[in-house]
Amino acid sequence: MKENLLDKIDKANVPKHIAIIMDGNGRWAKSRGEERTFGHKNAISAVRNAIAACAKAEVDYLTLYTFSTENWNRPEDEVSALMTLLSESLIKESDELMSKEIRMHVIGEIDKLPDLVKEQLLNVVEVTKGNSKTNLVLALSYGSQREILNAVKHIAQEVKDGNLTIDAIDEKVIESHLYTKNIPPVDLLVRTSGEIRISNFLLWQIAYAELQFLDIYWPDFSEEDLFQCILNYQNKERRFGKTSEQIIN
Ligand code: IPE
Ligand code: IPE
Ligand code: MG
Repeated sequence: MKENLLDKIDKANVPKHIAIIMDGNGRWAKSRGEERTFGHKNAISAVRNAIAACAKAEVDYLTLYTFSTENWNRPEDEVSALMTLLSESLIKESDELMSKEIRMHVIGEIDKLPDLVKEQLLNVVEVTKGNSKTNLVLALSYGSQREILNAVKHIAQEVKDGNLTIDAIDEKVIESHLYTKNIPPVDLLVRTSGEIRISNFLLWQIAYAELQFLDIYWPDFSEEDLFQCILNYQNKERRFGKTSEQIIN
């Protein structure tokens, strides 16, 4: 079944950049009478599924919303359990990233992360930088409004210093000041858990993304789910403001 869905994907029209809001770990655990942290632990295999599926489908960029700027406001023990899990996973999964030739990147305010986690992250980014298959982008301590705010401050500083004129500020200049400079815009955004909201994720970058909301909790996410999302995406006509006739001709 897995291979069937993959075979149905048109390799010439695979989304270049898929972004996923991995939501529903807590509810997944609760529905089993377990603590929220149990859900986070069981989220790792779903992350593995998403990465493996993107590698098989030859997706260039996969961005995973792993921890938001707002998630710092969760109870201290949950935040600390998430940081420990992240740290353990970075150690356990780095061989897997190497064997799949996956290059890892990080976006967000990583200076806010515990020193050890930051060190491990930068280490995996460094070790995998020669890999040339799927780019895995972890959004950590990430908030889109903060990202845009920081870009505005940097641009204002450049104008103040006389290195940039106001007239020269365009979309490209803004993009070059986002964490995602050098990363293409999002083609397909997926959110699990049934919530239909963006939660401060990649607001600029999803301007023309196709959005898909799945009624499953993140720990249940499978490779087939990702293949199905790509197939749904391939049935959409992306018009970018033009008419259907213009697109067909
Ligand atoms: C997503 O699952 C993981 C993070 C936000 C870190 P949640 O922890 O948000 O799970 P729910 O949405 O409460 O079920
Ligand atoms: C979004 O999920 C953040 C991540 C998946 C990392 P949340 O569970 O934090 O989002 P809200 O608060 O329900 O919108
Ligand atoms: Mg949630």
